[in-house]
Amino acid sequence: MINNIIQISKEAGELIRNAFGKTHSIEFKTNELNLLTETDKASEKLITDFIKKKYPAHGILAEEGSEANRSAEYLWVIDPLDGTTNFVHGLPIFSVSIGVQKNGETIAGVVYDVMRDVFYSAEKGNGSFENGRKISVSKNENLGHSVLVTGFPYNIKENPDKSNERFIAFLKNSRAIRRLGSAAIDFCYVASGVFDGFWEVSLHPWDICAGKLIVEEAGGLVTNFDGNPINIYSKQILATNKLVHKDMIKVLNSV
Ligand code: IPD
Ligand code: CA
Ligand code: CA
Repeated sequence: MINNIIQISKEAGELIRNAFGKTHSIEFKTNELNLLTETDKASEKLITDFIKKKYPAHGILAEEGSEANRSAEYLWVIDPLDGTTNFVHGLPIFSVSIGVQKNGETIAGVVYDVMRDVFYSAEKGNGSFENGRKISVSKNENLGHSVLVTGFPYNIKENPDKSNERFIAFLKNSRAIRRLGSAAIDFCYVASGVFDGFWEVSLHPWDICAGKLIVEEAGGLVTNFDGNPINIYSKQILATNKLVHKDMIKVLNSV
């Protein structure tokens, strides 16, 4: 199955790459920060058509509204274009994220970093890979020497879950913070050791599903801000190399 997921992620990525830099029809979703293009929809259609044809009994949960057999044994959780704001504004950082769950447990995940043509993949119990090469989280134990990444939800102006204060607290307690604009890529950069930690206050199942498994299979830890286990329906996520996890929890709860 993993090869099929990689294949369809790459096909969706190619569709997105071909549309990058062109003019887009833009709709607003919840507000004018939250964009939707025809490319998000086209990518989702390509992926879900493939699933319906190849795995007709499987369930689907996808960001742009495709839903089928949610209680099926297998559930595909899909972000057809993670990083739409970057895509619209010509910043080449965006991805396709596909996770597959069996009876509620994620068993496989792929994130395709479209413009770098790099795919991250993991199967439960089998490690994580970047273009087929095994990857692991960083070995840094010192939060002060850490490079962290975060993202902001589209209702950021309401400062949900003390998002702003938490960001400032990490500015004072890390080497640097980056904001890439694709949560799925943020997870993968934790998995490959680029970043030591990633936190965000409000994500969705399609942002989390593949990336969480890829971090865990690379030796990392993913919890909520209290250090408790999460599932894909949790909002808060803290994904780290395990070694800076406790210190990040302290900072998250210091505000
Ligand atoms: C968004 C990106 C962003 C994160 C937002 C997500 P979208 O996904 O992953 O990095 O900060 O919370 O909603 O809307 O581009 O698929
Ligand atoms: Ca997303
Ligand atoms: Ca998306």
